[in-house]
Amino acid sequence: MSTAAPLAGVIGHPVGHSKSPVLHGHWLKRYAIAGHYVALPVEPGHFETVVKTLPLMGFRGVNVTLPHKQTAIEIADRVTDRAALIGAANTLTFRDGRILADNTDGYGFIESIRQTAPDWDPRSGPALVLGAGGASRAVVSALLDAGVQELRIANRTRARAEALRENFGARVRVMDWAVLDRALDGAMTLVNTTSLGMEGQPPLTIDVTRLPDEALVTDIVYAPLETPVLRAAAAAGLRTVDGLGMLLHQAVPGFEQWFGQRPEVDDALRAAVLAS
Ligand code: ATR
Repeated sequence: MSTAAPLAGVIGHPVGHSKSPVLHGHWLKRYAIAGHYVALPVEPGHFETVVKTLPLMGFRGVNVTLPHKQTAIEIADRVTDRAALIGAANTLTFRDGRILADNTDGYGFIESIRQTAPDWDPRSGPALVLGAGGASRAVVSALLDAGVQELRIANRTRARAEALRENFGARVRVMDWAVLDRALDGAMTLVNTTSLGMEGQPPLTIDVTRLPDEALVTDIVYAPLETPVLRAAAAAGLRTVDGLGMLLHQAVPGFEQWFGQRPEVDDALRAAVLAS
């Protein structure tokens, strides 16, 4: 491996809003690693050319964000099982002239819950996932991996939820978006993967008091940090996990592979990213 300063970055279009440079920059400083992590705006038509050139310039790997997450799978030499199942990659590692594609979003989602609510038990009862987009696929895959026995999915466009069931199998049950109350009954884990509750979007209005007292409510939206549904859940005395933790934890495997140090997700990192 080259002795030059290791490089990594995030490729997107646009990419200016990405928190990844701040997050990886914080870790590089904290662990005194003489490397760099940069934002790389790349148009869709140039993605493959750029990715194939980066290793020649000392890049160890990159994060990939919209709109390149599917293409990243297509151009990779090796794809992890979880990335193949999700159909999208967010982490590429360059090794021995090959491109390895992984998806760490689901890993980040589970690690974030485990750090904030260590006694959370995926086997304690049904999980309900709202939404059926790209983020939902990563969450569904991770919850099934963690051992959830019954996974309910409700989505405004039912056909997208049905497509997830086709993909992920018998433990998945498609619920009706129009009668969400029924889907909430007995759900021990509730996950919002829709954009409802995000700044500038309408709130997600569901009656969280229908959930069991021991239920855990989590949102993958992190702007605002406390979404209306998390606020309602906290007011009802339920455990909550905000969406920032997923963003921070999904970055861990990439940083470790590229810079050789397993980084820690702690309050200082949260503060650095929130301040940016
Ligand atoms: P991501 O990759 O972040 O999951 P996405 O694929 O655009 O993004 O998915 C957004 C999710 O939010 C979808 O589940 C979408 O529902 P549809 O599949 O019906 O579009 C959901 N969503 C967005 N706006 C919504 C709204 N106003 N009401 C209900 N669901 C909404």
